[in-house]
Amino acid sequence: MRDQDGWYSGVPAHVFLRRRERVLEELGDGAMILPAAPILYRSRDSQLPYRPDSELFYLTGFTEPEALLVLRGFADEERALLFVRPRDPAAEQWSGSRLGPERARERFGVDAAHPIGELDDRLPKLLAHARRIHFRLGRRRSVENLVIQALEEARSRGSRKGRGPRSVVDPGEILDEMRLRKGPEEIAALREAVRVTVEGFRAALTAAGPGRGEWQLQAELEAAFRREGAQGPAFATIVGSGTNACTLHYVDNSDELGPGDLVLLDAGAEVRMYAGDITRTFPVGGTFSPAQRAVYEVVEEARAAAVQAVRPGVTVRDVHDAAVRILTEGLMELGVLSGSVDELIGRKAHRRYFPHRTSHWLGLDTHDPGDYIRDGEHRRLEAGMVLTVEPGLYFVPASAQEPDGAPEADHPYEGIGVRIEDDVLVTSDGAEVLSRALPTEADEIVEMVGGQGFIQ
Ligand code: GLY
Ligand code: MN
Ligand code: MN
Repeated sequence: MRDQDGWYSGVPAHVFLRRRERVLEELGDGAMILPAAPILYRSRDSQLPYRPDSELFYLTGFTEPEALLVLRGFADEERALLFVRPRDPAAEQWSGSRLGPERARERFGVDAAHPIGELDDRLPKLLAHARRIHFRLGRRRSVENLVIQALEEARSRGSRKGRGPRSVVDPGEILDEMRLRKGPEEIAALREAVRVTVEGFRAALTAAGPGRGEWQLQAELEAAFRREGAQGPAFATIVGSGTNACTLHYVDNSDELGPGDLVLLDAGAEVRMYAGDITRTFPVGGTFSPAQRAVYEVVEEARAAAVQAVRPGVTVRDVHDAAVRILTEGLMELGVLSGSVDELIGRKAHRRYFPHRTSHWLGLDTHDPGDYIRDGEHRRLEAGMVLTVEPGLYFVPASAQEPDGAPEADHPYEGIGVRIEDDVLVTSDGAEVLSRALPTEADEIVEMVGGQGFIQ
């Protein structure tokens, strides 16, 4: 792994400091504990590539495992502390250099840093005067036991001393809200993640052709991600050809591309911890069949309408509704649904063909946190929020339907799956499509695949 200033560069230390100060203010008389992500094993003693915890990264920029941040809003001193792995030349020869407590304190501007081995001894004392502890339960049993210890001590001594923790709150209660509104450094990282994602798509699209494998498109895409400086994919790449496009989280990528197939490619590069997330659907042979094109045009129109709806003051629900209206009208034009459009929307008739939502927040996590509904109200978009717009239509083949499900209507779309996904930044007066460099219009997509004139 490169130095801390390498992969995760571009964000000055004062940005993390400012974020911590804001959390400390919001904590009031509470404390927050954020452990590093665990080291995960893929089999026996082979580790999965380490992915730092998004929340700990958001507040420190620190990316080593076996670390923990303590924030103490109630305290006059030692308000921000880090526990980190101690220097250890022998261990560092195996798994790379460690910053160690002294350098971690200097570099990350925390008030104190200690070896992680001192956590059991120090943490209960550090929490003794917090009224609330912001900590995610059910994740890290060893740290959770220390939180429970602090709560139990407060319960037994609290009535005499009148202080101590009484409740545990999820850190997301504070952090999710902050992370919803992206700062300039975050938007810069997202732009780069989307740029690299677009490069990956270009590589994969130009490599497509009959007889090639879904896995080969994945290889081209992910090679471009690494070549362009991404850490790798932000989530498992989906290359679904033919009916595989109807499986929303298809990740086997093990089929050959048939000459008449569409391919649904959904992927995102992770750059400096931030995720891109784009989907394009294109014909393997460079030509849409009439049925494929008809479905594609409906989804593309829904994408454009939903993107058009994004601006400050509207809700994610409004964006979804804009897509659903076009998809429903389109399903009627395709002859799949019939009736009145409002009645069909009212009973969510689209759901059989569009079973997911149109948008999710995008950031350090592909599905970034943040409540879509707050205090019973749909949240209104604000400048600085970043969301995906990803309508789709999926005509699951009859053979894959529930045995007791309604028989598939008589239409020529069976087995077709189309999704088109863009990443959108809410601006002060509208929206900026971060992924606009990658065309969505059917003819432009065909041109990218390089297959105009291809006769099937
Ligand atoms: N690939 C995950 C998503 O689009 O939400
Ligand atoms: Mn996606
Ligand atoms: Mn998405």
